[in-house]
This record gives sequence, structure tokens and C-alpha cells, in this order.
Amino acid sequence: MAPIIVEGLRRLEYRGYDSAGIATVNEAGQLDRRRAVGKLVNLSDLLVHDPLPGRAGIGHTRWATHGVPNEVNAHPHRSGGVAVVHNGIIENFHELRAELAAKGIPHESETDTETVAMLVGAYMKEGKSPQEAVRATLARLEGAFALLFLFDGEDDLMIAARKGSPLAIGHGEGEMYVGSDAIALAPMTNMITYLEEGDWAVITRAGATIYDAEGKLANREARRIRMDAARIEKGGHRHFMMKEIAEQPTVVGQVLDAYVSPDAHGIMMDLEGIDFAGIDRLSIVACGTAYYAGLVAKYWFEHYARLPVDIDVASEFRYREPPFAPRTLGIFVSQSGETADTLAALRFSEGKAARTLALVNVPESSIAREADVALPIHAGPEIAVASTKAFTCQLTTFAVLVVKAAHARGEIDDAGMVEMLTDLRHLPGLMSHALASDELIRAAAEEVAEARDVLFLGRGQMFPLALEGALKLKEISYLHAEGYPSGELKHGPIALVDKATPTVVLAPHDGLFDKTVSNMQEVMARGGRVLLVADARAKDQAGSGVWKHITMPDAPEFLQPILYAVPAQLLAYHAAVAKGTDVDQPRNLAKSVTVE
Ligand code: G6P
Repeated sequence: MAPIIVEGLRRLEYRGYDSAGIATVNEAGQLDRRRAVGKLVNLSDLLVHDPLPGRAGIGHTRWATHGVPNEVNAHPHRSGGVAVVHNGIIENFHELRAELAAKGIPHESETDTETVAMLVGAYMKEGKSPQEAVRATLARLEGAFALLFLFDGEDDLMIAARKGSPLAIGHGEGEMYVGSDAIALAPMTNMITYLEEGDWAVITRAGATIYDAEGKLANREARRIRMDAARIEKGGHRHFMMKEIAEQPTVVGQVLDAYVSPDAHGIMMDLEGIDFAGIDRLSIVACGTAYYAGLVAKYWFEHYARLPVDIDVASEFRYREPPFAPRTLGIFVSQSGETADTLAALRFSEGKAARTLALVNVPESSIAREADVALPIHAGPEIAVASTKAFTCQLTTFAVLVVKAAHARGEIDDAGMVEMLTDLRHLPGLMSHALASDELIRAAAEEVAEARDVLFLGRGQMFPLALEGALKLKEISYLHAEGYPSGELKHGPIALVDKATPTVVLAPHDGLFDKTVSNMQEVMARGGRVLLVADARAKDQAGSGVWKHITMPDAPEFLQPILYAVPAQLLAYHAAVAKGTDVDQPRNLAKSVTVE
């Protein structure tokens, strides 16, 4: 059993973690566990020397929230005859821990999770069955969780519970599986039942009995999920991130096939009655890279559809509790569809926004299910922690939405719509062209990797790309980078400019290019090195003095932010490779942040 669990954990490695562990119950009914800090290989090495027999087991990779990453804090946590693994945060664990301490039950880790095991263990000591003990415990827990319990003396019993963090139950032949994502279960089964909010399930080899939050039997459908959604191979690339950068022409093409008619005359996007002519304002909320996709969309919606847009990072929005203007459409962007802050922001908006719309990559995710309307971004599984293809697919989905809004609001006529959609159809080809600069960018990135600080500049709709370029570089190469609007340079960041600080300027030849040339002169006059990412016309006009040029294909203005994502991603990727960092699983980061 243990090797199967390790394989499942390996398939979830991409989410980011800093320790791992497994517990099993052997055929004599004994519960035992092994845990190790760092990569999964440390745990599998440990298991080679000290195997864990048994036909029932649970495993976990932990991304530290409460307590440093060490063996004692790693899951599974154990107390008395119960072991548990947990995603999420138990917010009232201090009170629970104090209550248990008063009863003489000590804790050994710094984690919130251990308290759950202690509570179940305490109830069982009072004579409750495992089911009764878990039920009583769930009633006491505040916060978000996906939990999975295993019991000493029970070789055919597991209990799972879901509130706020997803859980998938997999159906095998005479065997059952549970995972926080169906991807983990793909080698074993593709028959999946997703637990709903508040559900808990009693699982034996024969099947799962699911109860809802009220304790009533719940009938949850088992669905056969598409296997290709669970494929996680690098396809000949050294890293998932490079594979995902390289497949952008294909996946962006998928988005267009899904939403734009083949002759580029119509949009096939079912918004279930959302009519942009009846919307006065948009409120876009997201985190990380998805937030920058939303920021590009703000420029587009305001420019092309003359629709005012508020945009917030979700962790600010949810506590700022902004008032909503009437007829506001709330838009929530999330690759995983599980980001805790974005989900909380969506829940806050329900009943206040006229409607809620989600742009998500995982159609079964919580955000997709809870929003009024969910638009899939069709990127396919994104494995590298740093988001790349999800970003360009979010942008492409937004682009179609913008055309739809501009048309509905009478800002463009039929011909204008066909023109914009025809431009969009050129995107996959243009992105392939941009990818051809890979070698040049690699050479530049090797020099950029020597720097301590890097500046990214962009104007207008390219400003969010400057932010995204800086974020990508920080995330995977650990270089300090900052993105700024070009015009803001002289208000502070210019103080950072010296010979050692490369400035990456993302500047296609647009109406603002002359102003950007002035900003580049300001950098160069202070000895700064400018790496100009621009089309050929911009390159000619920039004149001499530019340190390095990366030439992008000419593209309609509307598409430029999507296209310029490619060189920004490649630069970060090659800088990280040059520095020898863990590209796909950078330190301290997680892919799907289901905690606040
Ligand atoms: C994490 C990831 C980022 C991602 C952000 C939002 O921080 O490391 O790559 O952009 O979460 O994730 P979401 O799934 O909501 O798009």
C-alpha cells in the first residue's frame, strides 16, 4: 500500500510542500507511521529501510502554516488510536488544545492538525466508535478542512470529511481511494465522487457511505472523469514549466475553438443570461498571476467596452468589504478554483453583486461550482507552481469576453467584432513565433541571473505584464524584481538603477512608445542596462544604447499582453535554470493556496 500512496503524493508534488508522511494499518491491525522533512524521496528512502506493511493507509505532503517544517509537525498526526491527515486550517485549535490539555492530553507538535487527532482520540477513549468520535469532532471544528482518518485495529475503515477544501473519492474494484485531487488517483481509477461542502464519508473496501452536514445519508454521483485531465508527463521537456510555456499556442487555440466560431463571425460563450448591456460596473477579484490577468482585463474592458472596472487582490477585498454599485458583475479568476481568499471573496459577493462569473481551469472546483456562471479557461492541468499557460488562457478567455461586452454595449459593430475575433485567431501562430526567441532569451537570462535586482517596465496594458514578469522571476529564480508602470520610474525606482541592475522594458510599438523611449533614456543615462522586448518598429525607433533586444512579431495592439507573456515567462525560466533553483517547485510556494 505504501508505494501506491507515495505515487499518489508524487502526483500532487506540484502543489508545493516541505515535508511528507504516511501511516498504515497492517494486517494485524496495528497503526504505524513514517514521516520525513523535505522532498518525497526522503520519505521513500526511509520506507526502503523501514517499510510500512498494510493494506490501508493515508499520506500527506505538508505546506507549513502552523509550525516549522520538521518531522514532528509533519502529517499524519496521531493521538491514541487515530491518525489523521489534513489540508486547511483549524481556526479554534488553541481553545481545543487548552481544553484537551486540561483533561491531561498533551500535544507534541505545533500544528493545528494534531488537535483534531487528539479530539477524536479523546472521544474514542470515552467509548465512542470511530464514526461517533469523528462526527462529534467535526461539530467542534472551525475553519477549513479536508480530513482523512485511519484507526488502530481497523484495517478496513477510513473516514473522510470536507469543509472548504476539496476531496475526491475514487472507486476501484474491491478497493477505495481518497485524494485531495483526482489527479492523485489517476493511476488507480477514474471513477470519482466529489464530496460536497460539509459532507463526511465512511469508507471501506466495499464502498463509501456519504453523509451531509446534517448527518443525513447523501447521494453523491460517481462520475468517470476524463483521463487526459490526469496526465502529468513532461513531454520531453526538462521541467513542467517549460512544457507548459511551450504548449501555449495549442491551449490558447483550444480556448479560441471553445469560444469563437471557426469563421470568426460569432462568439460561442454561454453566459446564462448575463447581458453586458445591463451591467454598469465590473468587480474583478483574484490572487497572484490570476490577479494580473484581471488587471490586463481592466485595461481592455475600460478601453474597448467602456465599462468601468474595480480590481482587487482577494485577501484585501474580502476584509475591505467594499460596497457594490448597482448592476455590478463580480468576476473571480482562479486557475485552481480553490484559492481560499478568492473563494471567500466570491462568497462575500453573493447576493451583493448582480451576478457572479468565475474564470477557472478546474471545472469541478469550489469556485466554479459556487459562482452563478463558470467559464473554463481550457488550459489543461498546470503542474508547475509558477503559472504560465493558465495566465495566457485566462487572458484569452477575457479577450473573448471583452469583445462580447464591447459588442453588447454598442461600442463595436458587427464588423468590429469580426475584426477583433479574426485578430484573436492569429494568436496561436504569433505565440509560436514568440517562442522561437527562446535561444536569444536564454542567453540574456544567463546574464540577468547574475544581477541582484531587476526592474520590469511597461505602460498601459503592458504594465500588468511588467508586474507578471517580475513575479515570475521572483517566484522561480529568487532574484529580487519589481514591476512598474514606465512613467512611474522617476518617482522612486530609478534610485535602484545602476550598472548591475537590468531593466526589462516590455514595449511594443504602440501609441505610447515615444514616452517609453524617454523612460529608457533615463535608465541608460544612469548607466542602466536596458533589455528591450519589442517589435521590429519599436526596436528601430529605440536607437542605440539598448543593452539587448528581443524581437517580437508584429501583432494587433489588443493581443500584445498575451503575446508578451511568452518572453517574460522564458526569461524567468532560463534565469532560474541558470541559477539552478527548483523550477517546478520553488521553495516556500504552493500551487493551490487553500489557506488564508
Ligand atoms: C499561488 C500560486 C500562483 C497563483 C496563485 C493564485 O500563489 O503559486 O501561481 O497565481 O496562487 O492561484 P489560483 O489557483 O487562484 O489562480
